[in-house]
Amino acid sequence: MKKLFIKTYGCQMNVYDSARMADLLAPLGYAPGNGPEDADMVILNTCHIREKAAEKVYSELGRLKQLKLARAAEGRGMLIAVAGCVAQAEGKEILARQPAVDVVVGPQSYHRLPQMLAEITRGTGHVLETEFPAEEKFDSLPSDGAAPGPAAFLTVQEGCDKFCTFCVVPYTRGAEFSRPVTQILDEARRLARSGVRELTLLGQNVNAYCGEGPDGSDWSLARLLYRLAEIEGIARLRFTTSHPRDMRDDLIAAYGELPQLMPYLHLPLQSGSDRVLSAMNRKHSAADYRDLVARVRARRPDLALSSDFIVGFPGEGDADFEATLAVVREVGYAQAYSFKYSPRPGTPASAALGQVPEEVKKLRLEQLQCLLAAQQDAFNASCRGRSFAVLFEKPGKKSQQGVGRSPYLQPVHVDGAASLIGEIRNVRIREVLPNSLRGELVDTSVAEVAH
Ligand code: SAH
Ligand code: SF4
Ligand code: F3S
Repeated sequence: MKKLFIKTYGCQMNVYDSARMADLLAPLGYAPGNGPEDADMVILNTCHIREKAAEKVYSELGRLKQLKLARAAEGRGMLIAVAGCVAQAEGKEILARQPAVDVVVGPQSYHRLPQMLAEITRGTGHVLETEFPAEEKFDSLPSDGAAPGPAAFLTVQEGCDKFCTFCVVPYTRGAEFSRPVTQILDEARRLARSGVRELTLLGQNVNAYCGEGPDGSDWSLARLLYRLAEIEGIARLRFTTSHPRDMRDDLIAAYGELPQLMPYLHLPLQSGSDRVLSAMNRKHSAADYRDLVARVRARRPDLALSSDFIVGFPGEGDADFEATLAVVREVGYAQAYSFKYSPRPGTPASAALGQVPEEVKKLRLEQLQCLLAAQQDAFNASCRGRSFAVLFEKPGKKSQQGVGRSPYLQPVHVDGAASLIGEIRNVRIREVLPNSLRGELVDTSVAEVAH
């Protein structure tokens, strides 16, 4: 067997794609290895969202080139592939900057990896593929990959037509495309058969999902969720990432009606200032967002919210930033990601007037992260003494310990639960640690645990 090592950067869609690439290469004799040192092929599945993410790729490629040379000196080869969003955005430039790279393959083209490797074996030199539509990719992916454990990702939608002025995704992932319902159900059933209990549906705009149903009509994300909930073995459903503009009434209603849908929603706000939201082309106001949160919470009072924020967007003044802090205080987040604005080549905001100095961005980020961390701590602390259903996903570091996730996505460690992997049990939270919770089993009967 040859050894394959895939390093994944960026979002969960890249995690899903990396697993599919491993599935595609398994029939060619590639088995997952532990690191780049002993790998016959290394794939960097890259992210272009911020400058730092993209630059990391080139420093990693420099290290891989040294490994490749060292292996060559021992008479062994190493193929280096760059996949993902940097591959799509920079294409040929990657080959120019790092000639040790053999393959450049975009996120819509990786189903062609086996043919590309065959071309390399025939001695055609470097190969580059960044053109194909997402639709063709999903039609060509293998349907016999191994399930990753009790919780799995399933990409249902790709691409983005929103063109937020800061964002590269519409350029790297292409136009919005929703996979047909039947294809998704087949994949979900296969995952359920191999032990998956929780599905997280993925899409850059997952709540804009609008896929062709078996009856020929377009299905919404809510309709898809209700159908997936009927699959035997599937006990929990999640989805990410949602755009506030696409939270339709049927999806909001599902929070009150569908017990399999977890009470957790990642709903990026980016900024609390209407002026900035408008310049970002988000097409909603801060008040729209507050109203939306209130409507989902009315259906599901224990909803935990998560979000993404950008500080220092061009033109953001102190008052705009204060408006962001005000919405954060009002909404209250269980968890959130926040970033300094990073100008990305080709996006409208990168050429806008009023770029904010780095120093100001840094101070604002610190202030926002301090508030978000306090909210996260408070949310975790509020879980002490509560009982909820935990899906056990893997053994813990301690003997006989099991680690699972709460309905709110927190990692939960439970002693004596190592044999419960793949099961959902009621756990009472005893201790709140900085990044996880610790609890004990309170009831071993699964029957009364709805989710
Ligand atoms: N589709 C999702 C976001 C995907 S990108 C949405 O619409 O919310 C993930 C996050 O990266 C974004 O929510 C945003 O907060 C951040 N991001 C995107 N482009 C960025 C940039 N140029 N600078 C800083 N952060 C950025
Ligand atoms: Fe990027 Fe906006 Fe599309 Fe999200 S909705 S992927 S932030 S362009
Ligand atoms: Fe990054 Fe591409 Fe995802 S730019 S965030 S890997 S869609």
